[in-house]
Amino acid sequence: MSHPKHEKTLVLIKPDGIQRSLIGEIVQRYERSGLKLVGLKMLVPSSDLVEQHYSLDPSWKKSVGEKAIGSYEKRGIEPPSRDPIEVGDRVLQGLKKYLTCGPVIAMVWQGAHAVEVIRKMTGGTEPRSSDVGTIRGDFVIDSYQMADTDGRAVRNLIHASGSTDEANQEIPLWFGAGDVLSYRLVQEQILYDVNIDGILE
Ligand code: CMP
Repeated sequence: MSHPKHEKTLVLIKPDGIQRSLIGEIVQRYERSGLKLVGLKMLVPSSDLVEQHYSLDPSWKKSVGEKAIGSYEKRGIEPPSRDPIEVGDRVLQGLKKYLTCGPVIAMVWQGAHAVEVIRKMTGGTEPRSSDVGTIRGDFVIDSYQMADTDGRAVRNLIHASGSTDEANQEIPLWFGAGDVLSYRLVQEQILYDVNIDGILE
């Protein structure tokens, strides 16, 4: 089994993160956790790339649609359709508009439990209910309610892979093989080396 320190995850700073001048804040939060930045690029994604990204998991549309229907019901509102695939498709159309409206930053972060640690720091999907102390909880106030009222995607600053399998599919979509670097940070000695020596003189 590969050592946990090799785990990688994909993060996208979405157009609202760039427009809110939060690039430095977001990178700093991930960086100071001890994770290592091994890939970074800025681009305006095509509609096709966004569709491919959210279609990697064939069950994504259905599960997002089911959650969206649940969120309508919780608020006592009739969803636009009872078919989760149809509702998931509406979310996807909104996401395509949102993610192609300006530059995004795609990053690959590596380190122990990278997927879990990044998701924990990022916070839950809906900024309104994501925990204080997480990036979404601290810097954005959007909600399912507002997104539904205005017929658009929830603006939550960031996408972060949900599992290692997802990360392994998403990274090659955004980065060529040579674009993800392999190098050692000096701090890895403290984070991972079995024997910490060479500190005292
Ligand atoms: P992300 O973590 O990139 O995964 C899917 C994205 O779809 C999510 O962040 C939100 O931006 C958006 N999203 C998810 N559910 C809904 C919903 N019910 N209504 C609008 N947008 C949604």
